[in-house]
Amino acid sequence: MLGVIFSLIEPTATIHVSAAELPKGAGEVLVRQQCGICHDIDLVSQQRLSREGWAGVLDDMTQFGAPFNAGQRQLILDYLATHLRVRDRFVAGNAMGGLPSAPGVEQVRFHCGICHDLTLVRTQRLGRDVWDEVLSDMRTYGAVFDDAQREIILDYLSAHLGP
Ligand code: HEC
Ligand code: HEC
Repeated sequence: MLGVIFSLIEPTATIHVSAAELPKGAGEVLVRQQCGICHDIDLVSQQRLSREGWAGVLDDMTQFGAPFNAGQRQLILDYLATHLRVRDRFVAGNAMGGLPSAPGVEQVRFHCGICHDLTLVRTQRLGRDVWDEVLSDMRTYGAVFDDAQREIILDYLSAHLGP
């Protein structure tokens, strides 16, 4: 994140050079150009998201000021959804419902339903410490939530999916 903060206060449009490889495919050069303006391309290449997840990221990036136009967005989304998608076994049969309805459930749906079926979450009964470890594991898999969101998610999981 440091790199991101740095590039934000640095008013340049340099393309960040990175050793990270993007998978070959139509749109690769466009993604490298458009997504390397503000931050390292690693931030993109390490993610594995569904098409909906990527569409949400692109909305966020537009809000942050990313300059791609509608046509470019389509090409970028096709590239990302094809080459940086979640593993198929998680995409298949994704179920978004069934979690107890309570404050925080939307955060859990959004942040935990991106990569896998929410039954994987719903069927666990874990203590707060163990949920905390699970959240750290999910971050290493590429889950993106900030510390405030993490707290909301952790509160929800501990309160409703405890032992
Ligand atoms: C105008 C600057 C800008 C451009 C261009 C840009 N991003 Fe970002 N991106 C950001 C900022 C700022 C953050 C950090 C947000 C945060 O801290 O949560 C970020 C974070 C991310 C993240 C981490 C997850 C998240 O949502 O915070 C991903 C993935 C990402 N960008 C993908 C892309 C892709 C794909 C493109 C190209 C289509 C792109 N970015 C282009 C500014 C940009
Ligand atoms: C970027 C993708 C991604 C996101 C987002 C994500 N997970 Fe996962 N999750 C995984 C992967 C990959 C596995 C399977 C690891 C394996 O094969 O053992 C997994 C497995 C799990 C498991 C099964 C136990 C385990 O540790 O393997 C639980 C529970 C879990 N995730 C909870 C969550 C929760 C809660 C969230 C939301 C905060 C979340 N996940 C978000 C990728 C993700």
